[in-house]
Amino acid sequence: MFSMIFACDLNGAIGKDGDLPWKQSSDLQHFKRVTMSKTIVMGRKTWDSLPGKLPGRRNIVLSRSPRDDVEVLSFEEVVKLGESEEVMVIGGEEIYNLFLPHVKEIHKTIIVTEVEGADAFAPSMEGEGFHLIGERSVDAGPRDEHNMVFQHWIR
Ligand SMILES: NC(=O)c1ccc[n+]([C@@H]2O[C@H](COP(=O)([O-])OP(=O)(O)OC[C@H]3O[C@@H](n4cnc5c(N)ncnc54)[C@H](OP(=O)(O)O)[C@@H]3O)[C@@H](O)[C@H]2O)c1
Repeated sequence: MFSMIFACDLNGAIGKDGDLPWKQSSDLQHFKRVTMSKTIVMGRKTWDSLPGKLPGRRNIVLSRSPRDDVEVLSFEEVVKLGESEEVMVIGGEEIYNLFLPHVKEIHKTIIVTEVEGADAFAPSMEGEGFHLIGERSVDAGPRDEHNMVFQHWIR
């Protein structure tokens, strides 16, 4: 089973210059809570943006080049893995689009802002058959730049 988690601005932006375009501690906490103990899969560029493996989770990276600092699998191998366990797709844009047809559940955070000059975007959920089953608005805390809305979608 595949789930997906992403945070996007009001226009669907998720990234800029290879990184997240905001400081949003509450969303990182939410990400940690949702992904903890799970298998997570990410693209090589998202891996490059991290300081290292995210602890407490099986970290898998999709890349066409081998590497020795993290487990690298092919798309086909990850699809096979998703037949026997829950795999959480954590980005970025290329990897979200690749897995969207396989995804049953999406954890989406809307960061209430409009990023200028974004260069990575969330997958379009339009016409994909997802239904909103939960929504919670949260005001920015002391370590957040913006208000946010946590949404839970399934199909
Ligand atoms: N806001 C959020 O929730 C969120 C979450 C995650 C990431 N992001 C942002 O998204 C941006 C990165 O997204 P991106 O689209 O540029 O890159 P990405 O999806 O993280 O990684 C792309 C890389 O994945 C590998 N790849 C793609 N398709 C593959 C396939 N079929 N088989 C094997 N490997 C494959 C390739 O690696 P190789 O070149 O090594 O072959 C490709 O260059 C960053 O700005 C990041 O901060 C945002």
